Amino acid sequence: MFADSSMDKLSPPYLKDKGAKLVVDAVSVEFDGLRALDQVSLEIATGEILGLIGPNGSGKTTMVNAITGQLIPAEGRINLAGYDITGLPPRNIALLGVLRSFQIVRLFSNLTVSENVESAAVAGGLSRRTARRRAQELLQEFGLWDYRDQAANALSYGDKRRVEIARALAADPVFLLLDEPAAGMNEVESDVLLELLAELPVQRGIGLLIIDHDMRLIMRLCHRLHVLASGRTIGEGDVDTVRRMPAVVQAYLGSDAYA
Ligand SMILES: Nc1ncnc2c1ncn2[C@@H]1O[C@H](COP(=O)(O)OP(=O)(O)OP(=O)(O)O)[C@@H](O)[C@H]1O
Ligand SMILES: [Mg+2]
Repeated sequence: MFADSSMDKLSPPYLKDKGAKLVVDAVSVEFDGLRALDQVSLEIATGEILGLIGPNGSGKTTMVNAITGQLIPAEGRINLAGYDITGLPPRNIALLGVLRSFQIVRLFSNLTVSENVESAAVAGGLSRRTARRRAQELLQEFGLWDYRDQAANALSYGDKRRVEIARALAADPVFLLLDEPAAGMNEVESDVLLELLAELPVQRGIGLLIIDHDMRLIMRLCHRLHVLASGRTIGEGDVDTVRRMPAVVQAYLGSDAYA
């Protein structure tokens, strides 16, 4: 995949063993003169959960797009375990173990739940047989086993979101970036999701980045927070410190999301 043979070391198991970091260094993204991200730096280590929060339009999804190669930053670098991955094609970044879910669910609506998860495992490089086994494990773990033969579009919104996360996990991520995984879920569904997500860093050694407006989920799940407003960092640190920062409180004033 790479001209430089030292990049061969960048297989996902290598990354997990080494306690790797994903480092975003002073990244800026521009859209027709609008600075959607302005020199934002953050990092995530394997085994931890970072919450990326901020008001609508603050640049959260843009950050995920920049990390996963869907957008190329105007400035700054993105580093995975010490290797520069800035500007690599999204498929290569995914094969290195940096995977995402989308704010708007993207499933193959006419395929079954099982086929959706299996195809993601095949895209992640597994043989059909291994992909089937991986899919079965994930469907059981995510409480989707009973729906495995249903078309994805027949599922409730909350169940579709769980299929989307199972798809991302099927490709064996080292870093998993979830863009509003609890959007549209009721409190019960959000609690079930919380338990599933909380286990991932411990069980699988994955580093998680979670974007969500559900502050109940974010505050209970995340080890650290990074707060954006208008494309700039306005606060970062542990959850209790960040939630008291005047700039953060100010950015959320009038928002019911921040209770
Ligand atoms: N492809 C694009 N073309 C032009 N402008 C864009 C594009 N994508 C995002 N933007 C703009 O960049 C800014 C940041 O958008 P982004 O989607 O990253 O926000 P967000 O924090 O994810 O918001 P939300 O909480 O509503 O999902 C917004 O002003 C948005 O309108
Ligand atoms: Mg968004």
